[in-house]
Amino acid sequence: MNHLKQKAKEILSNNWRNGFTIPTAKLYPFQWNWDSGFVAMGFAQYAVKQAMQELRNLFSGQWQNGMLPHIIFHSETENTYFPNWDFWETSVNAGASQQPKTSGITQPPVHGFVLDFILNLHQDDEEVKAFAKELYPKIINYHRFLYNYRDPKKEGLFFIYHPWESGRDNSPIWDESLNRLVIDEAKLPNYERRDTKVADASERPTKDQYDRYVYLMQLGKRHQYDGEGIAKESPFLIQDCMMNAILIQANKGLVNVAKQVGLDFAEVEAWLQQGAASFQHKFWNEEKQFYLTYDLRGEKQIAHKDIGGYIPLFAGLPNATQANHLTQKLNDIKEKGFYLCPSFDIDSPLFDSKRYWRGPVWPHMNWMLYQGLLQYQQTELAKTVLNDTLALVDQVGFYEYFESQKNKYDQLDHGFGGNHFSWSASTVLNFLEEIVKMSYF
Ligand code: DGY
Repeated sequence: MNHLKQKAKEILSNNWRNGFTIPTAKLYPFQWNWDSGFVAMGFAQYAVKQAMQELRNLFSGQWQNGMLPHIIFHSETENTYFPNWDFWETSVNAGASQQPKTSGITQPPVHGFVLDFILNLHQDDEEVKAFAKELYPKIINYHRFLYNYRDPKKEGLFFIYHPWESGRDNSPIWDESLNRLVIDEAKLPNYERRDTKVADASERPTKDQYDRYVYLMQLGKRHQYDGEGIAKESPFLIQDCMMNAILIQANKGLVNVAKQVGLDFAEVEAWLQQGAASFQHKFWNEEKQFYLTYDLRGEKQIAHKDIGGYIPLFAGLPNATQANHLTQKLNDIKEKGFYLCPSFDIDSPLFDSKRYWRGPVWPHMNWMLYQGLLQYQQTELAKTVLNDTLALVDQVGFYEYFESQKNKYDQLDHGFGGNHFSWSASTVLNFLEEIVKMSYF
């Protein structure tokens, strides 16, 4: 396993850009929000100063309203990515960060549990403790933004209005909401995709999906990216099960941090209480025995099972019966010859084992799933998730995502999307540490 560790560190070092880490060269040349969170946990294993710098630089793009953007464009001259900072035009919002420039939407709010993870590894390090005190109020502001601007019915659950916010851009769970958009090509701004120039188009979202992404960007822009008009107008208005589970787990992380370094956490406790109760009610589907994402515009659960439905395990939300249903499903997937865990329902006609979030395996998702399974004493299944992730990387390399069907590897010698990918590297580092910590071998 030493070669994997060495390679992972080499990737993080090559993707380091003087204070932050790009996800992968060419395809994603800036700093991404949740990528950086996962990367910081990898650095925490051997270079905690870099972990702190990573997060400091990420939060340097935080807006006055608390929003933490999904991309921080640390360079204004790098022009190989679409949509770049000028396309976002975030100056429509008076409190948007202009130095550095950023996008106008957010991503999964992982940073509360990331900070907890880092502090746990370095409990006696005074510099890390001081850093925790510095970052804590910024994360609180970020969560306040989600509850104040994205929770119109005050349910303790927040909405997203763009698939990019979910991090799972082209998951079939968004199809119905995206199809509500009425696209008039003549009214869309001219744009040129760059992603399909550096990654295989068959592994990326389609042109029709990109038109819809651009439409929703324009919608956000018309409302200064945080206006009440977004909830009133957006045909895509979603309470994502995964993101809300992540927010709850991040809040739990913040409580741990606050207890360790002596900060007030009453507000976080209140969020937790309300969020956990609403979560069960809103997302659990008794018929499917699964957590489903909620379409706030259509006022109904979205019928498809995606990987986001397992992430409540990570936040400790399912009761024992619910957890059993989830783990049974994972065992079934494994028995059918898949690596854990495909990003979408393998039995659905919409499953596509190659295309981005419609089926492939994603390493950082596996890290959250692994942690969740451990919490529910599902050690064998957790070990499968860990082993599958390491086996995939070992077989074909540190890709962004991977074919999920085992039998396809007879003829496949690579993964999908970007290569030398940062969160794949950091996940491998964390899994390798787990092997030692848990004495798995
Ligand atoms: C992309 O460019 O594909 C990203 O997922 C958007 O953040």
